[in-house]
Amino acid sequence: MALKKFFNPSSVAIVGASRTKGKVGYEILRSMLDGGFKGGIFPINPKSETIEGLKCYPDLESIGQVPELVIIVVPAKAVPTVMQQCAKIGSRAVVIITAGFKEVGQEGRELENRVIQIARQGHIRVIGPNCLGVIVPGSNLNASFGGEMPAKGTIGYISQSGALMAAILDMANANRIGFSKLVSIGNKADINELDIIKAFAADAETRVIAGYLESIVDGNTFVNQAEQISLRKPILLMKAGVTSAGAKAASSHTGSLAGSEVAYECVFERAGIIRCSSIKQQFDYAQAFANQPLPGGSRVVLITNAGGAGIMAADSVEQHGLSFAKLSEETTAKLAAKLPASANIHNPVDILGDALADRYEFVLDTVLDDEGVDVVLVLLTPQAMTQPTATAEAMVRITHRKPAKTVLACFLGASKIAEAAKILKKGKIPIYDSTEMAVSTIKVMTDYLRWKTRPKRVVKLFAVNRRKVENVIERYLRRGSREIGEEDSKEILEAYGFVTPKGSIATTAEQAANIAQQLGFPVVLKIWSPDILHKSDLGGVKLGLENATAVMDAFDLMMHRIPKQAPNANILGVLVQEMCRGGKEVILGMHRDPHFGPLMMFGMGGIMVEVLKDVAFYLAPLTAEEAKQMLINTRTYKMLKGVRGQESTDIDAIAEGLQRLSQLVTEFPQIQEMDINPYVVGRAGTTAIAVDARISVEQS
Ligand code: COA
Repeated sequence: MALKKFFNPSSVAIVGASRTKGKVGYEILRSMLDGGFKGGIFPINPKSETIEGLKCYPDLESIGQVPELVIIVVPAKAVPTVMQQCAKIGSRAVVIITAGFKEVGQEGRELENRVIQIARQGHIRVIGPNCLGVIVPGSNLNASFGGEMPAKGTIGYISQSGALMAAILDMANANRIGFSKLVSIGNKADINELDIIKAFAADAETRVIAGYLESIVDGNTFVNQAEQISLRKPILLMKAGVTSAGAKAASSHTGSLAGSEVAYECVFERAGIIRCSSIKQQFDYAQAFANQPLPGGSRVVLITNAGGAGIMAADSVEQHGLSFAKLSEETTAKLAAKLPASANIHNPVDILGDALADRYEFVLDTVLDDEGVDVVLVLLTPQAMTQPTATAEAMVRITHRKPAKTVLACFLGASKIAEAAKILKKGKIPIYDSTEMAVSTIKVMTDYLRWKTRPKRVVKLFAVNRRKVENVIERYLRRGSREIGEEDSKEILEAYGFVTPKGSIATTAEQAANIAQQLGFPVVLKIWSPDILHKSDLGGVKLGLENATAVMDAFDLMMHRIPKQAPNANILGVLVQEMCRGGKEVILGMHRDPHFGPLMMFGMGGIMVEVLKDVAFYLAPLTAEEAKQMLINTRTYKMLKGVRGQESTDIDAIAEGLQRLSQLVTEFPQIQEMDINPYVVGRAGTTAIAVDARISVEQS
């Protein structure tokens, strides 16, 4: 197992073990003793001979053997010296509890760098600094000051916040939730979140990986590896520390709508990570993944002794897009034969308020045999004759006999169901205190199943002209310009298979009218200058010109006004361009996230993109399915499909445009942001046109 010395050490030294109750160094030693650690425990403290009955050593060298794990809990300034001792005696695994490193500023950062330098030279792996410690119930190892040792279980937990981990422990202990391992990673100076997640993935005792993160160290590696791990074990994360600072600095539409929150959503989606918004929600989900088999599908059956609870759960089933299992004739016949006449033998199965444990037992037993059922949710409210405890016992009995299907419980109440809740938890049946939470857990499990069994991602590569794009970008970077001009943007788009509007440059009004005649009316006029990027701001764009006179007038007006407004601009003429009409305007975009790379965007085009914010993001490179899913994820999709008898827009053309754009920005990391806006798409079979694009580049 990776990081074995952290999780199953044969001996542990605590440098800074204190004689004084309440000090961190004392509490860690106490936790080690209370946890019943079976290997050697070596307190290190030069001021004492013994602590808590254990022989105390003045320093690591005096132990006379090499402790496999060293916990450092001395003041920050003394940490480098202790690290040097670790290197000298050959200890290779260190947890630094001490705070006062990079989290406190420059001086702390330098100290942390020094510590890590010593670690690298001494081949030492480090968890922390500034962390709560490591807990492994299966090894009786509680090398932390987080409190009581939790029960042994199958959840591997990683926390970037030590304080939050203490709260999680307390909550888990109160709710009898067990762990395989808990790691507080603190400042992640050496071992980071991915190292721990990988260790949990390889750990036979861990079935579910859960955690709280504030940042991710190496975005790209994280996405790729987490995606592989999610295929084997579910990862449930709370993610905080999201800001919109990145979005504020952006210049494109896509950039202003992106931001790190969106990036994390995309990463979690790609990697199949289940995002949780609270500790309670995380444990509600985790206990189901840890204790129940994944459902084979999304057909849910509800068994209830209370009509109201049944209706609430049924509403949630519908809202979450799950399906109601249709019970077979054989099942309903069996139910009808034994249940009172007024019971409902169809889903939701209402077994009435006077249901005793045996009625629950019979119905659960029967529906579990029905091939049309994937998940059973057993609902109970404690009415006068209800037997919550006996019902829980019956459920445990049956699910142990028939363990193949997912069974969850939602017992509503408090004191009357407390004993039943204990029995269910012990019997590995997750129990929920609200119908909504129970059903949303089913939804999360079925979503994970769908993600896990999705077809292998295949990214199509289009035949393109890379050389052409390379030349344009290099030219801009050489002269230090960031924004690519319209003509060059067109060249880039065309090199990647986009069709752009036809048009030519005119230098006289007559020439403009001639070009317009050839293109066919109406046309668009655009001032043509490498020095004017935002043409419309200066009145440099005129749309919908219907005849030669209108074209000549517009030409003269532009050539008269704009040189006055932009006296330093080199004006080369006016672009006369075909006017694209009749299609829907959408936007295809990309914002390069500094940690995770290109985020693709699709949304309603034109000015509506920023008003409606009806957009979908996805991490590049896109597969055809993902590109299509982006469309489906917006409200615009319905409109594109055609409402009230309108013809459907060419959805495939948009999806292909997104894939081509995804290929472009993946192959050219210099492209920082890009919008194709509008991308005009007609009905199937017509040509989609990339009317305008904004591309900004930077040396990568
Ligand atoms: N080797 C061995 N023992 C040493 C030592 C060394 N180099 N230097 C000091 N000690 C001993 C001290 O004698 C003391 O023992 P005593 O209480 O029996 O006299 C013990 O180690 C602790 O040293 P002390 O100077 O009293 O420090 P402290 O307990 O006040 O603080 C920390 C030490 C590490 C707890 C503190 O610096 C710290 O970082 N606190 C925050 C921890 C934290 O919040 N971590 C993040 C959680 S998420």
